[in-house]
Amino acid sequence: MNVIDVILTKRDRGVLSDAQIDWVVDAYTRGEVADEQMSALAMAILLNGMTAGEIARWTAAMIASGERLDLSSVPRPTVDKHSTGGVGDKITLPLTPLVAACGAAVPQLSGRGLGHTGGTLDKLESIPGWRAQLSNAEFTAQLRDVGAVVCAAGEGLAPADRKLYALRDVTGTVEAIPLIASSIMSKKIAEGTGALVLDVKVGTGAFMKDIDRARELARTMVELGGAHGVRTVALLTDMNTPLGYAVGNAMEVTESVEVLAGGGPADVVELTLALAREMLDAAGLPDADPAAVLAGGQAMDAWRAMIAAQGGDPDAPMPAARETELVRAEADGVVTAVDAYAIGVAAWRLGAGRARKEDPVSAAAGVFLHRRPGDPVRAGDVLYELRADDPARIPAARETAAGAVTVGAAAPAPAPLLLDRV
Ligand code: URA
Repeated sequence: MNVIDVILTKRDRGVLSDAQIDWVVDAYTRGEVADEQMSALAMAILLNGMTAGEIARWTAAMIASGERLDLSSVPRPTVDKHSTGGVGDKITLPLTPLVAACGAAVPQLSGRGLGHTGGTLDKLESIPGWRAQLSNAEFTAQLRDVGAVVCAAGEGLAPADRKLYALRDVTGTVEAIPLIASSIMSKKIAEGTGALVLDVKVGTGAFMKDIDRARELARTMVELGGAHGVRTVALLTDMNTPLGYAVGNAMEVTESVEVLAGGGPADVVELTLALAREMLDAAGLPDADPAAVLAGGQAMDAWRAMIAAQGGDPDAPMPAARETELVRAEADGVVTAVDAYAIGVAAWRLGAGRARKEDPVSAAAGVFLHRRPGDPVRAGDVLYELRADDPARIPAARETAAGAVTVGAAAPAPAPLLLDRV
């Protein structure tokens, strides 16, 4: 097989054969196809697309590049959730123990934040002692004993995706639906979950800015899951406004614990319960009542067990930022919008996120909102706080966030959080 022929086929809008796909994914993983050749192919795929058959084969080849976990020793039905990434999206934190407390087992292989969207592992690492790296044996044992585990994906899982995702990140080829769908689904299928609920984000703070593309991505992933025997459902949810009030690692953990204690912001509770119902349904437990389990405190018990099992201290105080700047309203009115993208970038600049994979993140940095859309304000009221460990980070974040929270005379029309189900 010749890599140039594969590139030319896609460049000229042809359909890649199964043999071409199997070979190019394997040869790239082994290092026989060079990064520059794979970048050319990825760009041709971004520009010319792939058929459903090509996407299915590409996904199968990415799964076959590594191991597929066997969760058959777990005595409960397994179900996972994946979000395409957003601002203030801490939903995995309350959701995983909640669904476990309702009787399913939740295997969550999560990622770190890159760019303006946060990563679940970065958030949990702000809990003193908590460990993201587990062996496959530890992962399966925790799933059996606690029913909930959130950890980093091991090196052996879809190695083709690890290599290709890093390449796409630096070659302007992330935003291709066939590549995003196969990247996400290869990891989730290889993880061994029996069912999967996708939270496909739509809006300024998401990868997908418009609903039609988000729907196409959702349909592609749902079909891929079904073809591999994983019951898959997708919700399309709003990401024009950050979720909750906290956008930053440690403060998102604190807000999630408030949800587990029966409080927390209404939108975070609404989305947690909506996703929990979908997950329990997909796991074959449609009669479970996540709202009652949340109110009864069993989800909090599962959270404490899940954190402790990975060395974390659920009672440890969370780190506090050394520098805080309050940003106040200039006039009376009503908050008309809080732009997720600008708030996400500001939090990232404050140190909550990283510019390169190897950068450290700050646990305490981020943006804490005091007002959300629809809230009345008086001149001088605090709209949001910028928090950082390093004072030198504040000016750039101040500039980025300026204008993210708009105040007008009339309340905005209420924006639904749940947009569609696929
Ligand atoms: N998340 C992934 O895992 N892969 C993508 O391609 C995009 C988001």
